[in-house]
Amino acid sequence: MLKKIFGKSQKEKKLLKEQNLSEIDLIPSHIAIIMDGNGRWAKKRAMPRIAGHHEGMKTVRKIARCADDLGIKVLTLYAFSTENWKRPKSEVDYLMGLPEKFLKSFMPEIMERDIRVQMMGEKEALPASTQAVLNEAMERTKNNNGLILNFAMNYGSRAEIVRAMKDIMVEVKNGNLTVDMIDESTINNYLMTSQLPEPDLLIRTSGEVRLSNFMLWQLAYTEFWFTDTLWPDFDEETLMEAIHAFQKRNRRYGGLKGEEIN
Ligand code: IPE
Ligand code: IPE
Ligand code: MG
Repeated sequence: MLKKIFGKSQKEKKLLKEQNLSEIDLIPSHIAIIMDGNGRWAKKRAMPRIAGHHEGMKTVRKIARCADDLGIKVLTLYAFSTENWKRPKSEVDYLMGLPEKFLKSFMPEIMERDIRVQMMGEKEALPASTQAVLNEAMERTKNNNGLILNFAMNYGSRAEIVRAMKDIMVEVKNGNLTVDMIDESTINNYLMTSQLPEPDLLIRTSGEVRLSNFMLWQLAYTEFWFTDTLWPDFDEETLMEAIHAFQKRNRRYGGLKGEEIN
């Protein structure tokens, strides 16, 4: 694709200019979002919690479009945690049906935009119908070269790390790896994000200031941005606000930056 080879497309450049956003390398490559506050959004309107999830799904579409227009490479969305099974069955059932609703209506645009759908999480524990729609979407979009829309579905960072550790142990037992060979990159390779860059920017909505078991290893040097906005109210403008904040951050990775060295 043209945009991949020559950087930003005209459309992306125009959008960046309109939004007063800085040049290419300051746009985060990977944004991860903890989409929170659907239940409270519904409660405020005396509606059932699932109405909040339905509205939240519309926000997913809006933000995926915006991320794609901005030329962001990866958008990871925390949709269901390994702890969310604790919720009432009716709510869990509704959430498990959302991928189908979302993909049914959004798939033509996903193809048109060249978006690639992926997921990370314990897929085998999802209902068969949820697995089937996710598998189908991943299969259909696997050769797309645009935005990677990565859903964290039945995802928990601790479960992910446990699984990686077990897989590494098996490799050692089988003689394919030695203990001395294990380093940070080995662990990266056994996580569900092995093919993705680390998130540059983490956003959490709804005023909660915690990670709730999300990407504990991968967020080591990510910039965090929190907003009181509830996920169904989150929009393009809020995303721009987060990116503007990100652009003002000074990422040091433990070292010093130019002017700080004397
Ligand atoms: C986020 O909204 C969506 C999921 C966790 C699935 P919540 O359902 O957590 O909404 P609140 O936090 O109860 O408002
Ligand atoms: C985190 O939100 C999980 C998702 C957004 C999918 P929760 O609403 O489940 O987190 P807690 O319970 O407030 O920590
Ligand atoms: Mg919540």
